[in-house]
Amino acid sequence: MSATSDAASINQPDNTNPPLTKTAFGNDFTWGVATAAYQIEGAHDVAGKGASIWDVFSARKGKVKQNHNGNLACDFFNRYPDDLELMQSMSIPNFRFSLSWSRLLPEGVGQVNQAGIDYYNRLIDHCLELGIKPWVTLYHWDLPHALEQKGGWANRDMIGWFQEYAALCAKAFGDRVKHWMVLNEPMVFTGAGYFLGVHAPGRRGFGSFVPAVHHATLCQAAGARVLKSMLPEAEVGTTFSCSHVEPLQQTEKDIKAAKRVDALLNRLFLEPVLGLGYPLDDLKFMRRIEKYMKPGDEELLKYDFDFIGIQNYTREVVKYSFWTPFMQANLVPPKKRGVPQTLMNWEVYPEGIYHLLHKYSQYKNIPKILITENGAAFADELKDGQVHDPLRVDFLQRYLQQVLRARQEGANVSGYFVWSFVDNFEWAEGYDPRFGIVHVDFETQQRTIKSSGYWYKQFLEG
Ligand code: BGC
Repeated sequence: MSATSDAASINQPDNTNPPLTKTAFGNDFTWGVATAAYQIEGAHDVAGKGASIWDVFSARKGKVKQNHNGNLACDFFNRYPDDLELMQSMSIPNFRFSLSWSRLLPEGVGQVNQAGIDYYNRLIDHCLELGIKPWVTLYHWDLPHALEQKGGWANRDMIGWFQEYAALCAKAFGDRVKHWMVLNEPMVFTGAGYFLGVHAPGRRGFGSFVPAVHHATLCQAAGARVLKSMLPEAEVGTTFSCSHVEPLQQTEKDIKAAKRVDALLNRLFLEPVLGLGYPLDDLKFMRRIEKYMKPGDEELLKYDFDFIGIQNYTREVVKYSFWTPFMQANLVPPKKRGVPQTLMNWEVYPEGIYHLLHKYSQYKNIPKILITENGAAFADELKDGQVHDPLRVDFLQRYLQQVLRARQEGANVSGYFVWSFVDNFEWAEGYDPRFGIVHVDFETQQRTIKSSGYWYKQFLEG
């Protein structure tokens, strides 16, 4: 889409929509729901689990809204059989979840926690018994605290630690898990966790962020190489947070500012994998990453993934700002632009996913794209045993419409996972933003399928 000069016209809806049916996506399209270990499992200190950086961060006062934490979360660790049965009753064929590193290796490396292995074996087996395919993410932000104490992602030793962890997972679960994702959104866990300090481990500044970026990018490829060498038949991917970026106005300054934001949000972790290197021409302040590059790293950053997972929630509109250090760019919030937004203050902009799919389809060596997360948080309420969430139904339908539109125009997309199956611990925001298509009463742990869950079920049943 071409950018426009005023906020009102930026949000023009597109009316050329093909009819939204599952059949229209074709038989080879993968449908599912997504979750992450720390956000749902609970059982934070039982059955031999070691502490993760999120256990430690959320225990620090004032780090998470209302001092919420994931100690119990959705109690998925104990309730997974019922939850998987609920998932099956909703005709959901694929379940994306992550493994908790410190449940498997309490110290991050070394001693294996057999109770952790047993738990994931039971979970995976139960998925398969119910005809649900497990899609496993190795790392969704919950680094073992013991490794953070040794420098975490800012320490280059992460590569060896991560390889050991990946090898353990491949050995333990690879006979049954055929779809793997190495990292979840490296931009977010390095940016929010090591630069802004608003996520675990709460570190700030370039000294932590820049090496963390480089080591995460190296681990992305190193983890994939381990999985593929041990499981040659498996499909190995990794996931990226992506937002369609536009300049607020068609001025040279706004256009250049938008280019910088796009490089940071959408290209920094992907392009080195594809052999294009870090996008340093558009992101001059990241040139300090060269300090952490060792001979041979450029090769080590590359990997031919079987698929790339893109995760999209919103669009960013960017304005040049002289005063903003390094980026010289500001994001113009949806509220200022008078456009619809979710409870996260993220703009609802379905066309964004359409543009992203075309953008990523243009890279030569991405064989396949899956949307491994898309969804929205609204203030859902349980009333008379029901949860009506028409805004989420509308959100999902309109985003899917744009996915279909892109696919019919030749974009290389072949899967879609709703974030999220159940309401869960939304990181620094605590439990208030509800992303689930299944409502969780966090007092009673009662589950209630929302209207959006019923809609997805019907859609999947064709
Ligand atoms: C993350 C999820 C998170 C969701 C909504 C993604 O960035 O992978 O863990 O809950 O967005 O914020």
